[in-house]
Amino acid sequence: MTEARFSFNRSPESPIGIFDSGVGGLSVWREIARQLPHESTLYVADQEHVPYGTRSLAEVREYAKGITRFLLAQGAKIIVIACNTASGAALRTLRESFPDLAFVGMEPAVKPAAENTHSGVIAVIATQATFQGELFHSLVERFAAGVRLETQICPGLVELVERGELDTPETEATLHSCLNPLLQAGADHLVLGCTHYPFLAETITRITGPNVTLVDPAPAVARQTARVLTHQNLCAPASIEAKHTFFTSGSPEALKKLAHRLVGFEGAIQSIVWRGNDLQIIKGEDYVK
Ligand code: DGL
Repeated sequence: MTEARFSFNRSPESPIGIFDSGVGGLSVWREIARQLPHESTLYVADQEHVPYGTRSLAEVREYAKGITRFLLAQGAKIIVIACNTASGAALRTLRESFPDLAFVGMEPAVKPAAENTHSGVIAVIATQATFQGELFHSLVERFAAGVRLETQICPGLVELVERGELDTPETEATLHSCLNPLLQAGADHLVLGCTHYPFLAETITRITGPNVTLVDPAPAVARQTARVLTHQNLCAPASIEAKHTFFTSGSPEALKKLAHRLVGFEGAIQSIVWRGNDLQIIKGEDYVK
């Protein structure tokens, strides 16, 4: 159903809205900030509900709609779903519900992996919900016909990244049990099908060795965002100084620390809270500068 009450005023100066269940989408945010340095951003981390990957597709869809309404109300000109799980669950519904708004979604980068494999075996690590969505099935049908494709969920990995445990013994053990079967199958390309995983790249490479190529779609998502903005005449002018604001439905203090560590973020973080299906800003003491 169309959300008709959302007519909105976009201008090139308006920010890009970006969201994820937590800090994973920051791997996309950092690429957007790098490739499009004049663009302002609003980033929502729905940390009250992280992880999304073990939830039902219907639940994730409702969260994605609520976050989109919130980002629109804050003036976003376009929405980047910096989350494979939410893209798989909700991209189609969001495009139907908000027909005047452009969305950039994500999908595990099966195509480049299938094109570049030498061993003929590629592997995808992602959440359970991502593998259940129809987007992933259509990806496999379209691009993986000529290769052997191995898939693996990594229970607990998103939570470890959310706790900032990028390199602890527990993270390494979790990665070992998730990656070993893929290595044994002979995969030479490992698709990082969850935006939390690029933050583990160093630890992953230590396990896989240098002969396995990690495929992170974040640079391609940033390029696609640039293309959509150009097409819509919505690129921020170079005279503008970009402003970035992060919102979390979890702890702003924890996000402040982790966002600084992961991507060097030093801007404002605001607390938001779910009221039914909608997000609201909490003003006052929860505001962290
Ligand atoms: N970072 C997200 C993804 O790309 C979601 C992970 C989760 O919350 O389970 O799939």
